[in-house]
Amino acid sequence: MNGLIDIAELSIEELDSLMAVAEDIIENPEKYQDSCKHKKLATLFFEPSTRTRLSFEAAMHELGGSVIGFSDGDNSSAVKGESVADTARVVGCYADIIAMRHFIEGAPFVADRNCAVPVINAGDGGHNHPTQTLADLLTIKREKGRLNNLTVGFCGDLKYGRTVHSLCTALSRYQGIKFVFIAPKELKIPSYLIYEVIEKNGIEYVECDNLEEAMPELDILYMTRVQGERFEDKAEYERLKDSYILTMDKMAHAKEDMIVLHPLPRVNEISTQVDYDPRACYFKQVLNGKYMRMALILKLLGSATKGISADAVRPTPLTDDANGECKCQNTKCITHTEQELQQAFKLVDKDMNILRCKYCETRAK
Ligand code: CP
Repeated sequence: MNGLIDIAELSIEELDSLMAVAEDIIENPEKYQDSCKHKKLATLFFEPSTRTRLSFEAAMHELGGSVIGFSDGDNSSAVKGESVADTARVVGCYADIIAMRHFIEGAPFVADRNCAVPVINAGDGGHNHPTQTLADLLTIKREKGRLNNLTVGFCGDLKYGRTVHSLCTALSRYQGIKFVFIAPKELKIPSYLIYEVIEKNGIEYVECDNLEEAMPELDILYMTRVQGERFEDKAEYERLKDSYILTMDKMAHAKEDMIVLHPLPRVNEISTQVDYDPRACYFKQVLNGKYMRMALILKLLGSATKGISADAVRPTPLTDDANGECKCQNTKCITHTEQELQQAFKLVDKDMNILRCKYCETRAK
């Protein structure tokens, strides 16, 4: 592993090890205060962020390192037409590690393939958000005492909610997990996650649209914001944005030890009254995210196989693809904006002959 693009790149053992390091940092912060002395993190954020960017920056400062970067792609040479690959190649000459958020799906993957230092996906469009999953997993472990034998309800925008996609992928590898997907039909979880991750791992799941009815069996309720910025049809967003609002009346149907998670930002899908309930753990997630990002930076800098050299700034060719088509049907995919991305598809199921885009996982036509 060079960077971290998809949570599936980390084994359960690696996740356990990251959580153990994060918990050691919580207990003994002084042990780590110089761990990244003379190292630089670059935060390249082409999309707005409060938690992810600032927690990465706080994480690097607390490890004794320093931070460069930008919080708005419009202040970078991307506005002059510079590609993601070139941007990453250049920043890899200045920093030891990069955290990239981009509205284009697959952009951090292309960056990681093309630069000399590890790239961390800090959220790519509606696709994935693996470091939010690290925050979620540590919160579940610390609040529930386990990561197996849990019934997890995901509620809201499961179509565009990238944190949902990454957390489902991670939890699908644990024992005794059941998922309850609560969403309007327009915002259902993508079918590739159902067929190729959840069913493939033998995970029990149900899909429904009633939060109140689902509530009593849940150990965890993962609320999400309806992602207005991803909708092509703004009228549809207006119609769906208040589909679910968690109130204390609804909390009355939940188990006494259920926990409520939310990646934040919240708009109005959780009433502020719920914040006072001890089962509300979404601000604990924020803090845990910083510790998990510290652990991840330590891991990636410790195991970095890349290095700065003339050769290292050359792109890594993609060699293991199933065919040579190069445009994905998802118009938000990086194959539409980056020149010369070849062989975009990978064979994910030989028996069914299912091809998926290597960058955004959309099924090939
Ligand atoms: N959870 C999360 O990604 O928050 P930000 O968009 O503020 O980074």
